[in-house]
Amino acid sequence: MTADQLYHDPALAQFYDAENEWTEGLEYCRQLAASCASVLDLGCGTGLFAATLAQEGRCAVTGADPAAAMLDIARARSGGHLVRWLQADARALRLNERFDLIVLTGHAFQVFLTREDQAAVLRTIASHLRPNGRFIFDSRNPLVEEWKEWTPEQSQRTLTHPLLGAIEAWNDVSRDAASGVVSYDSYYRVQASGRLYSACSPIAFPAQERLAELLEEAGLIATSWLGGWDQRPCTADAPEIIVAGTLQGALTPAASTEG
Ligand SMILES: C[S@@+](CC[C@H](N)C(=O)[O-])C[C@H]1O[C@@H](n2cnc3c(N)ncnc32)[C@H](O)[C@@H]1O
Repeated sequence: MTADQLYHDPALAQFYDAENEWTEGLEYCRQLAASCASVLDLGCGTGLFAATLAQEGRCAVTGADPAAAMLDIARARSGGHLVRWLQADARALRLNERFDLIVLTGHAFQVFLTREDQAAVLRTIASHLRPNGRFIFDSRNPLVEEWKEWTPEQSQRTLTHPLLGAIEAWNDVSRDAASGVVSYDSYYRVQASGRLYSACSPIAFPAQERLAELLEEAGLIATSWLGGWDQRPCTADAPEIIVAGTLQGALTPAASTEG
């Protein structure tokens, strides 16, 4: 797994928050966290979710990400001082503690390209869940082929950076048919200076069946599969695959009827 410059290069990481605001997905996870004493945010990025949760003061929040540039932004944001930030790879992280809720938000699961890497992250989740703890993560539905829209023509947009002002942004994309890995290019041009920044990011689009197999192997069990944060069912034409679950053997009769 090579370090994606979109997250590791501070010059590119600085555009992340201009692109990504509070979403329906983060709100859903925030509500899941309402009854939790401890939350682990794997692939926490610039920390909007973790810091927002920590500021509410109901639970202890840990955010883990290997990209120092993302963590620097996370630490500096409002509420950032209330989170325990760890510069760590979610495949290898082993803390001697367990959590009530573990999340990977913003499609962070898709950065893991191989079956082996995906399995490793799920083993990390299984190793850090309390007996009745819950996990949740989202991954785009490969059947919908959303990447086909990530062309320069369809992705052209203007962002506002707090210091640099207007930024023209666009993407381009290619897909490796053999592996199913989609590589998307992100371009950011600062209007005032004309300076252009770019990165190429590979992401996987695992099928629901693959995710179900991996959960089983990791000792996890899904309690719900959603097709969107609006709680639509996880059907072939739904945009997302959102899986929530717990440790195998932890299900109470009430929990096992959910979803
Ligand atoms: C699409 S961003 C999502 C960030 C954040 N969760 C959000 O909702 O905005 C993906 C994040 O995964 C992180 N990442 C990449 N490789 C990782 C790894 N091996 N372990 C944990 N996180 C990783 C990246 O650094 C990046 O911050």
